[in-house]
Amino acid sequence: MQATLTALLAKATAELPSLRTRADFEAAKARYVGPHGEFTALMKQMGAVPKEERPAMGKLVNEAKAQLQVQLDATLQRLADAEITAQLGPAIDPTLPSPDAGPGTSHPLTLVREEMCRILRKAGFTVVEGPEVETEYYCFDALNTPPDHPARDAQDTFYFPEKARFGNITKKTPEEKYLLRTHTSSVQIRTMLKGEPPIRVVSPGRVYRRDTSDATHSANFHQIECLYVDKNVTVRDLKALLDYIFATLLGKDTKTRFRPHYFGYTEPSFEVDLSAQHLPKVNKPWIEIGGCGMVDPIVFEGVGYDPKVWSGYAFGMGLERLAMLMYGIDDIRYFYQNDLRFLRQFS
Ligand code: DAH
Repeated sequence: MQATLTALLAKATAELPSLRTRADFEAAKARYVGPHGEFTALMKQMGAVPKEERPAMGKLVNEAKAQLQVQLDATLQRLADAEITAQLGPAIDPTLPSPDAGPGTSHPLTLVREEMCRILRKAGFTVVEGPEVETEYYCFDALNTPPDHPARDAQDTFYFPEKARFGNITKKTPEEKYLLRTHTSSVQIRTMLKGEPPIRVVSPGRVYRRDTSDATHSANFHQIECLYVDKNVTVRDLKALLDYIFATLLGKDTKTRFRPHYFGYTEPSFEVDLSAQHLPKVNKPWIEIGGCGMVDPIVFEGVGYDPKVWSGYAFGMGLERLAMLMYGIDDIRYFYQNDLRFLRQFS
C-alpha cells in the first residue's frame, strides 16, 4: 500500500502542472480524491490493513493526503492567476512614454493654489490642512463670532443632523453641531491649539456655503488662509506680505489697498482690494479679494496665548476669485464642469 501511495503522489506531481483549464483540473481532482477516485479507493483499503500496522499506515495516508491537497490547491491558484492574467492582457511597461498627447494639465485652481503656497513657503510659511467637516467651536466660537451672527444662520451654513457622528472630529461641548466649514479660518484655531508661537502657516482648502450657483457664486469653493503669530507683529508687516504676494502672483504693477471692515477674529480688520488693470478682462480700478486683520486678543486668550506677549495677523481669500482675475475667467462654473476645452488651456 505504501508503494501505491508513493506512486499515486508521483503521478499527481507529474500530471497537475500540465493542466491548462479548470475543467481539466476538476476532472483530475475527481480522479484522485472524488468518491470514485484512486486516493479514495486507497483510503477504503485501510480496513484491510492488519490492526498493528494501522497507526503507522494511517499516518502515511494522512501525510500523503495533505501533500496531495497542497498540490491541488497550488494548481487551482495557478489556473486562477492565469485567468486573471489573460483578462488583463499583455503586461505593460509603465516606464514607457504615454501614447496620449501628454500627462494632462493641472486644473487652474491647482495652479493658483500651488503658486500661492510656493510664494508663501518662500516667505517662511508652512502649508497645513484642516478638516472640511468642522464643529461650531472651530468655525465660529473660537473665532469670536457671536451666536447671533448671520454667518451662523442655517440659511448660510450647512449643518449636519444632530445624530451625525464624526469619530475623528472632537466636539468641545456635546451641544455644538457639526457643519461644513464656511471658511478656512478654522485652521487658525486648530494650528494655535496644537503648538506654541511663533507660527507661520498657510492653509488652502475647500469651503462650503449655502449659496445658489451663478456666475460668481458656488456652494463649494476654495480659500487660502494665512496666520502669522510672533512678537511685535504690525499691520505694516501684513500689508507688506500682501503686496509681496500679489506682485509676485499677478505682476509688479499690482497694487493693494485696505478698507476698514469687521471680522470677529481680527482687530483692526480690513477688506483687501486689488488694482491689476494690466490683467486681461480686468476693467474695474479696484477689486475686492479677501479679508484680513490683526488677530483679536480674545482669540489669543481662547487658545491660551498671552495677548500681551504675542501679536499676529491673519488673512483669507477665495482661490476662484484669484484664478478668475489671473486667467480672465468670467464665470465660476467653468471650474467645476470638467470641460476639456476649458481645462486644456492651462498648463
Ligand atoms: N474668513 C473670512 C471669509 O471667509 C476671510 C478672512 C477675513 C480671513 C479676515 C481672515 C481674516 O483670516 O483675518 O470671508
